Amino acid sequence: MDILKELDVIEKDGLAALAAAEDEDALAAWRTAHLGRKSGLMAAFDGMKDLSKEERPQVGRRANEVKQALEGALEKKLVAVRQATLEASLAGEHLDVSLPGRALPLGRLHPVNQTLRRIYAIFAEMGFQVYRSREVESDDYNFTFLNIPAHHPARDMWDTFHTDREGVILRTHTSPGQIHAMREYCPENIRVILPGMVYRYEQVTTRSEMQFNQVEGLAVGPNITFGDLKGTLTDFARRLFNPDVRTRFRASHFPFTEPSAEMDVECFVCMGDGCSVCKGTGWLEILGSGMVHPTVLRYGGYDPEKVSGFAFGMGPERITMLLHRITDIRHFWRNDVRFLEQF
Ligand code: PHE
Repeated sequence: MDILKELDVIEKDGLAALAAAEDEDALAAWRTAHLGRKSGLMAAFDGMKDLSKEERPQVGRRANEVKQALEGALEKKLVAVRQATLEASLAGEHLDVSLPGRALPLGRLHPVNQTLRRIYAIFAEMGFQVYRSREVESDDYNFTFLNIPAHHPARDMWDTFHTDREGVILRTHTSPGQIHAMREYCPENIRVILPGMVYRYEQVTTRSEMQFNQVEGLAVGPNITFGDLKGTLTDFARRLFNPDVRTRFRASHFPFTEPSAEMDVECFVCMGDGCSVCKGTGWLEILGSGMVHPTVLRYGGYDPEKVSGFAFGMGPERITMLLHRITDIRHFWRNDVRFLEQF
């Protein structure tokens, strides 16, 4: 019977072609060619209708056998091809599970915040608490209660950001916090530092920004002297910079302190010889200070006949520049990770 021979050939050819198929695409094409509707096998099934009654069961059985043989072989080959693909990719990728993981980049504190924390720690050891005060202030707190009456030319020392609301401004320094602290604590003794952002409407240069931090300090109580001020601030500088750092006080003027002084530390670049950073003086200014003016004590609720006090205000950005020899204050706000990652 020709058709049985033909089925033998279909089976033999099919299995041979399958052996040559090496990937899933080839197997899909093979399925269409050998088991699809236009395949020789399907033609054999179709041809059965022309066979005699006697031939039909025999051919039908054989055709089904061939179909199952081809399908079974395809199934096996698929498994083998998939396994081979997996093995090839494992071998090619060299997955080494014993390697250490990739470290995630860690964030860190901004260099100015690091300086602030050191300042807090030093003053905490000397008994000063951190006192938080508002950034939006009234004209009275920022100026009048600090002994700078309306229209007084001393207001020109601070270029001010005003708001739409009459008398509401951004604080130009942390000194208004002195009044808030005094009014809250009076008649107790006070040892506080007041850190925070201040704002000045002025040109931005390598040495000055429109917004920056200050740390104010305030001590109020009986018998506080200028000696206490000098001792506290000199000790602070030694703890912050190094135990042998040289400091000096220069007479100055602030409306809210009397007498007033600015404190310099020796220039770290030239160690006092004079260079471009210290403009040839050998000294760098880090803060303003003085004995709290009697008028300010009175605005705070205290009797200047009974208590005295000292106050100071320093710029942590400037101090951070000195500590790390940073030459441009604008780096602090640029948010460039190449800069920030160095600290
Ligand atoms: N508030 C002053 C400034 O911003 C600094 C200062 C504070 C001076 C306290 C004396 C006492 O320049």
